[in-house]
Amino acid sequence: MALDMEKMKKIRESLKPIPLPEHDGVCYPSFLPFREKGAEQTLKDITNFQSRDTDIMICTYAKSGTHWINEITSMLIRKTAELDNINKATTMLETISDFSVTDILPSPRLLNTHCQFQYLPKKHIEHRSKIIHMIRNPKDTCASFYHHSRKDNIFLSFFGTWNEFFDLWMSAKCAYGSWYTYEKEIEQAEKDYPGMIFTCSYEKMKKDPKTEIRKLADFLEVQCTDKLIEDIAKATSFENMRENKIDFSKAVDGITHIYRKGIVGDWKNHFTVAQNEQFDAQYADEFQDSSYKSMFDLKLCTIK
Ligand code: A3P
Repeated sequence: MALDMEKMKKIRESLKPIPLPEHDGVCYPSFLPFREKGAEQTLKDITNFQSRDTDIMICTYAKSGTHWINEITSMLIRKTAELDNINKATTMLETISDFSVTDILPSPRLLNTHCQFQYLPKKHIEHRSKIIHMIRNPKDTCASFYHHSRKDNIFLSFFGTWNEFFDLWMSAKCAYGSWYTYEKEIEQAEKDYPGMIFTCSYEKMKKDPKTEIRKLADFLEVQCTDKLIEDIAKATSFENMRENKIDFSKAVDGITHIYRKGIVGDWKNHFTVAQNEQFDAQYADEFQDSSYKSMFDLKLCTIK
């Protein structure tokens, strides 16, 4: 299962950017399965993935803090504050060409995907297996995605400016499509399958990691001491993960684009006043009724 950095570099060197694969109006990063089988088949394969009832799925829109919540969850399951030697990228369903590599993972397997809820493995839902969902202020998510897209252009085929990325996001033409569609689908699933999904926010985790990690431990039904919770909070700090976690994003040019800034409110360094107004208008239109609105503060970058 371990994909080492040299192997990752070689894969990247053998590939060229291609137009983003698309299915049902949504674009996807051109990860190997999408290149080999196309978007429709890749998504079908994910839906038909042979889940175990103990699987735990991390579900996030891209750049919402997936690596962070994945590591916290991994530590809770393993009951240790040691960083896992498995990288989140290797258990991301849409990057795996042959799912048999997941057969060797011990239970509970920790898997992740940015694909919309409708494409999650059917069996995972049938089993009512656990789903952990992290949401982040979409303005910060958008700014973070811009940087990631520029650096990871082999898979994301983006070479443009911030203004160009902003327009892609606003028209849902960036990879993984509309943030609103993604979040609204999960929100509906929380209602349809009570108790199956744990939602936390990047901002709350940042403000009070110990409280949020304890809530997650309870959801996972993992007994742990306050000391372990505190150690996990420390070990999964941005600084420690940036310094010590295996990071395939360094295969591009030696500089990480996964552990970039790790702050709340970086969108203010990107958005123009006009872009902010445009974003707020779309948000009001699309997200007015969402219960997730209280998970972050769109305008002030502080917790309500
Ligand atoms: P920025 O680009 O704003 O810095 P994902 O894992 O979904 O790709 O999300 C990456 C974003 O989460 C990046 O945001 C990254 O810096 C941030 N991040 C990663 N690990 C983190 C941690 N331990 N604490 C806080 N933020 C973290």
